[in-house]
Order: sequence, then C-alpha cells, then structure tokens
Amino acid sequence: MTKRYQFGNPIETEAVLYKPDITKGECEWLQQSGRGFSCHLSRETIVYGLGESVRGINKRGWLYRSFCSDEPEHREDRHSLYGAHNFLLLSGDVYRKEDTEDALPGQKNIGFFFDTPGEIVFDIGYTKSDQMEITFSDFDLELYVMEGDSPDEVVSEFRELAGRSYIPPKWAFGYGQSRWSYETSDDVRKIAEEHKRLKIPLDSVYLDIDYMERYKDFTIDEKNFGDFDQLVREMKEEKIHLVPIIDAGVKIEEGYDVYEEGKEKGYFCKDENGEDFTVGVWPGKCHFPDMLNEEARHWFGDKYHLLTDRGIDGFWNDMNEPAIFYSEKRLEKVFSRMRELMGENLDIDTFFEMTGMVAGIANHREDYESFYHSYPYAPGDRKIRHDKVHNLYGYYMTRAAAESLEKLSPEKRILLFSRASYIGMHRYGGIWQGDNMSWWSHLLLNIKMMPSLNMCGFLYTGADLGGFGSDTTEELLLRFLSFGVFTPLMRNHAAKGTRRQEIYCFENIECFRDILKVRYRLLPYLYSEYMKAALRGTMMFRPLAFRYPGDKIARHVEDQLLLGEELMIAPVYEQNAIGRAVYIPERMKLFRFRGDSIDEERVYEKGYYFVDMPLGDICIFLREGHKIPVADSALRVENVPVEKLEIYSFGEKAEPYELYADDGETREYSLEKNIIRI
Ligand code: NOJ
Repeated sequence: MTKRYQFGNPIETEAVLYKPDITKGECEWLQQSGRGFSCHLSRETIVYGLGESVRGINKRGWLYRSFCSDEPEHREDRHSLYGAHNFLLLSGDVYRKEDTEDALPGQKNIGFFFDTPGEIVFDIGYTKSDQMEITFSDFDLELYVMEGDSPDEVVSEFRELAGRSYIPPKWAFGYGQSRWSYETSDDVRKIAEEHKRLKIPLDSVYLDIDYMERYKDFTIDEKNFGDFDQLVREMKEEKIHLVPIIDAGVKIEEGYDVYEEGKEKGYFCKDENGEDFTVGVWPGKCHFPDMLNEEARHWFGDKYHLLTDRGIDGFWNDMNEPAIFYSEKRLEKVFSRMRELMGENLDIDTFFEMTGMVAGIANHREDYESFYHSYPYAPGDRKIRHDKVHNLYGYYMTRAAAESLEKLSPEKRILLFSRASYIGMHRYGGIWQGDNMSWWSHLLLNIKMMPSLNMCGFLYTGADLGGFGSDTTEELLLRFLSFGVFTPLMRNHAAKGTRRQEIYCFENIECFRDILKVRYRLLPYLYSEYMKAALRGTMMFRPLAFRYPGDKIARHVEDQLLLGEELMIAPVYEQNAIGRAVYIPERMKLFRFRGDSIDEERVYEKGYYFVDMPLGDICIFLREGHKIPVADSALRVENVPVEKLEIYSFGEKAEPYELYADDGETREYSLEKNIIRI
C-alpha cells in the first residue's frame, strides 16, 4: 500500500494519477532534517532509481541533482541530465529511522517518490558513504512511500500510482536513421535509397532542425524541402516514416504566425516586468511558450497538426529543459565585464574569470530565475518563477503535443518522444537519452540506464546509437547497434560536424545487416515484452538482482540485464573485445544469432564463463523452462511475418509464452484480447 505524506505547501505536478489519503505523522524510514531528509544506508543496501542519470544502476557513491539540464557531454563528473525522475528504491537492509545500527532490520524493499517540481539534491553516500541526504530547494512536496516483498512489487505499486506508460506505434520499433541534419529532401531520399540498395532494414528517417525555415517550429524550408509533400508521399510508398523535430523556443520574427499569435494571446513566458521573456536558441532570439499555462499548452499542441496534415506521424521534442544559449541580460553582463577586461594584463584570476564567464553563458541559473509562468496550481495569482517548476517544462511540452495528437488522431498512435522529462510524462511520450558521445563508456551508460528508466515508467527509450557527439568508429557503432537490437527506440543519430555514421558509410555492411536482421526477428518478442510491461506496469529491462536477490554475484552485476521474463543479455561494451565474461545466474541456454541463422545453441550451468562474441553475433541467454517467439527477418516492421513464428525453447516443459499481438497502430490496447499463449 502506498503511503502519502505532505511537507510544506506542495505544488501540484500531475505526476501521479491518484492520491492516497495523507498519512499523518512522520515517515518511518526518513529522518526529516531542515529542508530535507536523511537515512542510514547499511553496507548491503542497493539504491536504485533516478531514471536518466549518470553512473551505475546502484546509485550509491555519487551526488545527483534533479534539475533537467541540457548536458551535452554526459560525463561521469556531471550531476544532472535531461530528466528529473525522483524515484528511489532501496533494497536490502533498510533501517527505520529509529533502528540502531546494530539492529538487524532484515531485507526490505522501499520505494520513495519525491514529487516536487523544483530542484532536489540526492547525496547518496557521496558525503558520507553510509548516509543518504536529500535536500530540496523548496521543501514543499508530496512524498509517496511504497513497501514490497520484492523490488518488482515496489515498482508495480509505483507504476500503478504514476499511470500507464506511453505506447508508440509498432513501426517505431523498427530501425531509425538520423543525423543533425539531413539538409535537403534529396539527402533524405539518399538514406532511403542506400538502405534499400544494400537491403538494410529501415522504418524511419529523422528530420533535425534544418528541415525548418530558419529553425522556426512548424515551418518547412521551402528552398531545401520545397517538395516536402512529395517526399512524405514517396517515403510512405517505401513504408518509411519521417520524424521531424520540434523545438521549445519560438523565433521572434514579425510575420511568423506562431510568434505573432503567441505574442498577441500572451502565451509566452514573461520576464520580471511582465514582458515576453527573450532567450537565444537556434534561430537567435526566441520566446518560450508557457507550456504550464493550460491555454497556451493547448495552443502550442494544436500546431502539430500543421505537420500531421502533411502526412507526418511521429515527432521528437527537443531543447525543452528548456535549453538557453543566452539571455540578453546575461550577454549584457558578460560583454560589459569583457569591455572592462579588454587591454588588461590578464592574470590567473582574471583569465579564468573571463573564460568561465563565456563558458557559463548557456543555461545560466540566473536566467532560470528570471522568467515566469502562469500555472493554475501556483499559489496566489498563478504566477510562478520558472526555477520553482523547472522540471515540468519538458513534461508539459510533450503533454501539449500528446493531448493534441490524440485529438487529431484518435484512432492511430503517433510516435512522440522528448529530451527533457519528469515522471508523469511517461504517460504521454518516450524519451531519447540525449547528447551522448561516441565513447565506449557511453555504451555502458546506455545499458545501465535502461532499468533505471524503466522503473520510473519510461519504457519507450534508447540512446543515440553510435554516439551523438565526436567521431564514431565502425566497431563502436556495431557494438552500440548490437545492444540497440533490444532497446525499444533503435535510432542511429549523430551531431553536426562528426564523421558520417549511416551504416552504408562503413565497410562491413554484411555485419551491420546481420545485426539489424536480428532486431526484426526478435520483434514479436520485443513488442510483446514492451506491451506487457506498459499494460501491467512492470519493467522490460531489469537488473539481475531483481530476480536473484540472494545471489551475491547477481546482486552486483551491472553490465548484464534481464529482458522480460525469459532472457538475459550481456552486451559487449569494450573496444577490440572478442567476447566477454558472462555471469550465468541459473541454468540457461545461449542462442547465438547471426543474421538469418542460429550459429550456436549451448547450455550453461550457473557460473562465470567467457563467451565469444565476435562482431555481428547477437547472443541471448534463455532461462530454463521458457520459450520465445522468433520471426523471419524483414526490411520493415510491417513486413515481419508474425503469422509464421518459430519457437525457441529451453527445457522439456517450457511455460507457455504470452505473445502480445495487435495491429500495432490503433489505440485499443488490451491484454485479454491480444495475448495468445503459445
Ligand atoms: C540537441 C539534441 O539533443 C540533438 O539530438 C539534436 O541533433 C540537436 N539538438 C540539433 O537539433
């Protein structure tokens, strides 16, 4: 049973679907101290959660700041990424606050959801290794506490509270190719042609900011995409979906209807003086639509029709932390100090002051403290300073789109995912994991983030495969894709100025093709697992510890994951690896996929093994007593022959598999109707 506590005057976020009655008195697990909470962590306690963040599955040993951030490097020394997912799950010897250290509290699984739209700092054994300290910029929050016999039970309880995860159309489980940017219609055609020529599966091509006219939302660049409608039609014939980006900032430009309407109706965020707040983003000076203002939100959401009317059925929402390159106020401060420094003999202090000042122009805290929303839940006159509700902006932008898209397309699902998010947004869209780098460590980060995101409700997710920033290599892309075979969003995306990263730019096409074939062969399984996780409020990717809590090794493995009830995966994430050490926590059967064939089937007893994993092989480990459906490969999701499935099983009496099969596009989801036991 979920308990709900209130502290101060919480601001409603609409993160959860229902509110249990408030429990009077204090929370038995957390010590309240000043503006926060603390609790003792026993040596064996694992702290899960925090969704999209740096570092491991076990969050102990670092300080995390829940403040949606435009973080282009994802380095280990950072404290925030794009999402604010304030859910923690403590598993192990969790102490009640009155327990003494030598008391044996026994195995517990306790979940906490700290629901507040402002900043939170989670010091999880960073200052003191056996202590967790949680501090709030504003100590006004709802705290939800869940207890369960297992971590899965806690997660299910939390997900019931937070509501069903977003469900994309089935085609969105296909392979997507992206780059910042395909700059002309012909660039897009080339992607489709090359994939077709080389028989590489492809379901979607993403349009980054250059499809717009001077980066103006809901416009099309007439020069380079003059034949946009024709392009959409051609791609449709090829069964390829185009997925354009939408940015948070609206360009200030006379004659641009979105700007003019927003201004006239007062739908933009305001500065201290009540004027529309101006920031610099891609197009230069912009205003932020006030996504927290209901009317403005509906207005912005309704604009998506300008693209759906032209045949578009998928979107990604970007820069919605919201990211700020500069504000006028900030530039003024920096320029004026620069003028003072000009001609000076810069020493250690002034030189670093100068470089620091320039580096700190973007996403400056003072800027987040200098604009306002009109939010119905704000105390008093609805007006609220942005930093107080910062973590909701991306959520409400994506909600704006989802609500309107549902009205525009009540029958058919539309693909929608976002960069920034807060718990609650998982009901409206997925997320991609932002600007990672073409680094091996970021492949490992991608692996570790999946279960953390899943427990917070974000199921439709994936990282930029191959890495977004810096130059990738063929080997890194192959390994990224080999993991991406399993992630619901499987998209190759790279930044401007980096080495081309489309598969056909590399030599080893056969190997790439083999990997993608496996994705499509596993689709009936992956889609079923996704749908069951969404409709039952469970996780698709889980840490090994969730199933083998008593197994000391399994409890601490962070580079292997459970996928559904049936599988374990152990991706390679190191350069020049020929395989890897795999921990087998129970008797399992390895299936070695190579494109259309299975090159090896082998039973492993519990223990540690070195498993060969040459490039292009996809290894899955099936639990004894289980089976999975496998299809023939196809070049499009639509063409995967679901009526002709092979069953791979392990053990004499394998449990029936619950296959979820629907048309993949209508919004009628039903476990009863669509599950077939095979
Ligand atoms: C930042 C996004 O994270 C990235 O994916 C995108 O390519 C650029 N913005 C340009 O739109």
